[in-house]
Amino acid sequence: MEAAAIPFSDTVRGEIHGEVLVVTIENPPVNALSADVRAGLVTALDRAAGDASILGLVITGAGKTFIAGADIREFGQPPVEPILPTVIERIEASGKPVVAAINGAALGGGLEVALGCHYRVASPAAQMGLPEVKLGIVPGAGGTQRLPRLIGIPAAIDLIGSGRSVKGQEALSLGLIDEIVDACLEDAALAADRRLAGQDPRRTGHLAVPAADNTAVEKVKARILAKARGQQAPAEAIRLVEAAARPLAEGLADERATFLRLRDGSEAAALRHVFFAERQASKVEDLEGVSPRPVETIGIAGLGLMGSGIAVAALNAGYRVIGLDRDDEAAAKGRERILDLLQKNLSAGRIDQTTFDAQENRLSVTAADGDLAPCDLIIEAVFDDLDVKIDLFRRLDKVIRPDAILATNTSYLNPDEIAAATAYPERVLGLHFFSPAHVMRLLEVVRCARTAPDVLATGLAVAKKLRKLAIVTGVTEGFIGNSIFSAYRREAEFLLEDGALPHEIDAALEDYGFPMGLFAVYDMAGLEIAWARRKRQAATRDPSERYVEIADRLCEAGRLGQKTGRGWYAYPEGKRQVDPVVTDIIAQCRANKGITPRNFRADEIVERLLAAMAEEGQKLLDESVAARESDIDLVMINGYGFPAHKGGPMFAATQTPR
Ligand code: 3HC
Repeated sequence: MEAAAIPFSDTVRGEIHGEVLVVTIENPPVNALSADVRAGLVTALDRAAGDASILGLVITGAGKTFIAGADIREFGQPPVEPILPTVIERIEASGKPVVAAINGAALGGGLEVALGCHYRVASPAAQMGLPEVKLGIVPGAGGTQRLPRLIGIPAAIDLIGSGRSVKGQEALSLGLIDEIVDACLEDAALAADRRLAGQDPRRTGHLAVPAADNTAVEKVKARILAKARGQQAPAEAIRLVEAAARPLAEGLADERATFLRLRDGSEAAALRHVFFAERQASKVEDLEGVSPRPVETIGIAGLGLMGSGIAVAALNAGYRVIGLDRDDEAAAKGRERILDLLQKNLSAGRIDQTTFDAQENRLSVTAADGDLAPCDLIIEAVFDDLDVKIDLFRRLDKVIRPDAILATNTSYLNPDEIAAATAYPERVLGLHFFSPAHVMRLLEVVRCARTAPDVLATGLAVAKKLRKLAIVTGVTEGFIGNSIFSAYRREAEFLLEDGALPHEIDAALEDYGFPMGLFAVYDMAGLEIAWARRKRQAATRDPSERYVEIADRLCEAGRLGQKTGRGWYAYPEGKRQVDPVVTDIIAQCRANKGITPRNFRADEIVERLLAAMAEEGQKLLDESVAARESDIDLVMINGYGFPAHKGGPMFAATQTPR
């Protein structure tokens, strides 16, 4: 007879199965290791130690998560005993075998608990990793010391330094788990416990660190550090893993001290802000209780670079896709472009042949508007011109069902004007993708003046299925991202006129953590589109507004960026280099306006650019275009290269004295 559940704390309970104590953590939503969970685990260990009839323990999680790690909300509060390292040491020291039954995500402290156990069985879908660096910290409960003992130094650097997680076969091949269990996980864990009972447990912390090949270590280190861009946590994690061969207690003490130092630092505060910002972003006002409309088939009008990327994202998410272009030839070209992208996914091993075939079957293309009739949602990605878009929406309006949704992917046009051209403006919204659309995670979901709540909810549901980070924005020129980007760009050009040079501004930005400085980005993207826009706007520009002509002079001199071999920089043999010709053009423009240039320190440059972004952000909040500061931060981090470890422009502005 099975015994009734034994409560070890509010969130941890036990059940005796024969001679094994099964300890279940139930701390919704994700079984984070709160003080109550930690206390419950210790009580369970005490109970097992003191009961001769118990021969072993199983630790598992209730629901779909094993343990999502330390409770991030407890960071910044005074520590409450027992702390996690102590709990894990108790697990590891147990004389009775402890088996981790990893039923779902085992992340951070959750995986560290599993590493403290003597045997690990996992469901095939369980995600396992130490994502602490993504929170600006290193694992703080033995991860950097036990993982290398189990899987070796290069693999441990890879997992801990990148924060990526693994599952199933990869976890098994690495030696991270002992068994993958397709059938009943608990039965497998109980069986393992019974097998191990009476033997001396295999304690991870007592294993010797496997000898590592130096070249492999250097290679993985270089890869991680190249991506770290000024962040401290990845380098610290590498240092700790590399030193794992010293006595365990020494390594654990160093790890804990490093964890606490980083946890209380600015990088971790910024990344925690980003973590909670992402969860917050999906909570949209007025949508509580509103059900999205069902979407199975997505039409994509315009199969250029952007449209093809959107199609690939939709096919990856399992949607049926009907592509529309202006004639059969363009449609066929679009289909080819989409298949090329899918083929790349196949070659890179991101999808298998069966998935590729299924995706190809779910794709059709046409040049006839009427063929979009079965679509539940149509996303247009045609040339960003109001007349072109209005004409398309008028035509589509006539052929699709009245409950089908129309989305515009415009970057700068007013979607309210596009909606007004249709018979049902309530069904129109904006879905502003970032290029390449199958790669970039950000999606601005534009709530137009008349967008119906369930249409907006559908946009968000589709975004989630596309695995995008959706940020809701109201209508303003450029929405959230391009509005802030314009302010940033404008301020950078003021700085140029005031005395900073492009390479000084870029160096300051790259030092701050941007992957590439603004002027280098311009050169990569090409200067001509913005130039054409400025020429179009020239007639309506307010003459009293400060206007910087330097970019125009560059374009007039044929310096259109990398593709012309020169722009803000020169590119001899493809290498970016300061060009004295540009310095002269800048000096001339300053002189024309009678500006005496001054020197700027890197921190002054960054501060001015941040202030300009934050000021524009505040405007968007005041106008209710953005719902919250953290949404603005996420847009700039995920769409414009703002370093996540600085938390985004709004967060950074609260940290930097201005
Ligand atoms: N602590 C506190 N709250 C957490 C949490 C954590 N570790 N992980 C998730 N949550 C909260 C979220 O904030 C969210 O709360 P909300 O509903 O109030 O907004 C809720 O749990 C659900 O989270 P998601 O929306 O992310 O749920 P998903 O099902 O999409 O994803 C998950 C689940 C994969 C577990 C994901 O939440 C996740 O990746 N969590 C973070 C994992 C992590 O970073 N762990 C390391 C923590 S640091 C650590 O362990 C230090 C140690 O070394 C000492």
